[in-house]
Amino acid sequence: MSKLNPKPFTVPDCLKAKQQGRKLVVVTAYDATSTKLIDTGAVDILLVGDSLGMVIQGHSTPLPVTLDEMIYHTKAVVRARTHALVVTDLPFMSYQISTSQALENAGRILKEAGAHAVKLEGGIRSAASIQAIVEAGIPVMGHVGMTPQSVQGYGGFKVQRNREQIVEDARAVERAGAFAIVLECIPMDLAKEISETLRIPTIGIGAGPHCDGQVLVLHDLLGMYTDFRPKFVKTYADLGQVIPQAIQRYAHDVREGQFPDEEHSFK
Ligand code: KIV
Repeated sequence: MSKLNPKPFTVPDCLKAKQQGRKLVVVTAYDATSTKLIDTGAVDILLVGDSLGMVIQGHSTPLPVTLDEMIYHTKAVVRARTHALVVTDLPFMSYQISTSQALENAGRILKEAGAHAVKLEGGIRSAASIQAIVEAGIPVMGHVGMTPQSVQGYGGFKVQRNREQIVEDARAVERAGAFAIVLECIPMDLAKEISETLRIPTIGIGAGPHCDGQVLVLHDLLGMYTDFRPKFVKTYADLGQVIPQAIQRYAHDVREGQFPDEEHSFK
């Protein structure tokens, strides 16, 4: 079991963790009830990821998710959070148009939703926006490698192997002032090289064991997202089986007159 940390986790704690060689634990969260179950002190960062477009809304990509939807879900997570740092994704086309658009929308995520930081995708192409957001006092987590908002350009969610580009992107994110960076779906030796080069912590997903931290989508970790299971996912509970079994038992009991019984009724 992880050592529980009773103090709220902060942005400077991320850098401290890397300096002390302590791995960062990150998981996605989208609603208040699951946040209460997740935020037990074992997790450092709750990521309100635009993966919610797939695991909550049922889309095949995160592209349709809107900024207002990200704010709605972040508010629910923030309401229930007690310990972990809350980082929210800027969704597709909420920051790509201009630096001022990126700054304005990052501001909405902190001001209206109460997140502690924002995450946005892209290295060199997003560096100016990252810098402007950080200069406004808003902490930014970067995201390079396989960036899901570019899925149409990749022709699917595919491992990215353009080493020079990915290294340059990661460096640009650090130079722009980000406090951490997600490395998604890249070869593990490349993730190792970037993790050893950068001062800020790297948070891997499909990037092997050498990153400074790890993130998983909650519904993957709990075996609830059954549309597809990427190679990098490890499931720690099989709610994809447990939930349908519970529903079948409930339906059986109702149909057989076994529920509700006296114990669950008022006298
Ligand atoms: O949207 C998301 O959940 C993410 C993680 C997979 C890193 O960006």
